[in-house]
Amino acid sequence: MKTYCFANKKGGCSKTTLNIETAFYLALQGKKTIIIDGDPQGNATERFNLENFDNELVDVLQGNCYAKEAIIKTAEYLDIIPTNKYNSKYRDFADMMIHKEPHIFSELVEVLSGMDYNYCFIDINPSDSNLERSILGAVDEIISPVQPQAFSFTGVDSFIDFVESIKKQFRKNIQFNKIVISMLDNRIAGHNVMKEKLESLPNYKTFLFHDCADISNSQIVSKSVFEFAPQSRSTEEIKSIAESLR
Ligand SMILES: Nc1ncnc2c1ncn2[C@@H]1O[C@H](COP(=O)(O)OP(=O)(O)OP(=O)(O)O)[C@@H](O)[C@H]1O
Ligand SMILES: [Mg+2]
Repeated sequence: MKTYCFANKKGGCSKTTLNIETAFYLALQGKKTIIIDGDPQGNATERFNLENFDNELVDVLQGNCYAKEAIIKTAEYLDIIPTNKYNSKYRDFADMMIHKEPHIFSELVEVLSGMDYNYCFIDINPSDSNLERSILGAVDEIISPVQPQAFSFTGVDSFIDFVESIKKQFRKNIQFNKIVISMLDNRIAGHNVMKEKLESLPNYKTFLFHDCADISNSQIVSKSVFEFAPQSRSTEEIKSIAESLR
């Protein structure tokens, strides 16, 4: 099993959208895939319209249930370990406990890798607390969505430093050499300028994820863009990102 996370310390840059849609695409290819909703905001869980579940991620982390007891099937080959945004247990756990157990997500990934999954995606909060450290320390590869806006570079630099410090903490070679230029609108001159700057970053391969109404519209009706608008430009873009991970 390979574990991935679309991550950035910045909010609203398509992390959840890309974690879910890339997972969805791989599941459509018949690859057994699981999403862990590691963000206390519970957006990934909400996106699948899940509300009533007995167990959630925090119950697994606290040892109140086994991982398999919290897994929900959302589509053929696509499962999720949910997080309830109305339940503060996970947030409290992250605030109070996780610094004592930094390897807790690595342990969970280890358990899931024994359950015949091909891919795991962990959705993450736009923050740099011990929770995000524990999550990123558990993955094989980080891909960072970056919006082509002013100050993006400062954000990229500081995220690169953050990842470097996690690699040292976990003594692990986590791959991080892909950036997704997200919500790109070519009609905006500044976006094109920033796009070129991001594309000229040495050591990073870049992918495009244009601003596209099909993404917002599909999420409003709780569907993947692959179901809602299979011919959309977004599906081609997500496919190319996902294929680079295989
Ligand atoms: N390519 C896109 N085209 C149009 N809208 C998009 C695109 N990507 C994301 N969005 C929209 O932007 C908003 C933020 O996206 P998303 O929730 O994926 O970001 P995020 O980085 O996970 O945010 P957060 O930091 O709050 O977790 C959502 O309303 C989503 O529908
Ligand atoms: Mg999110």
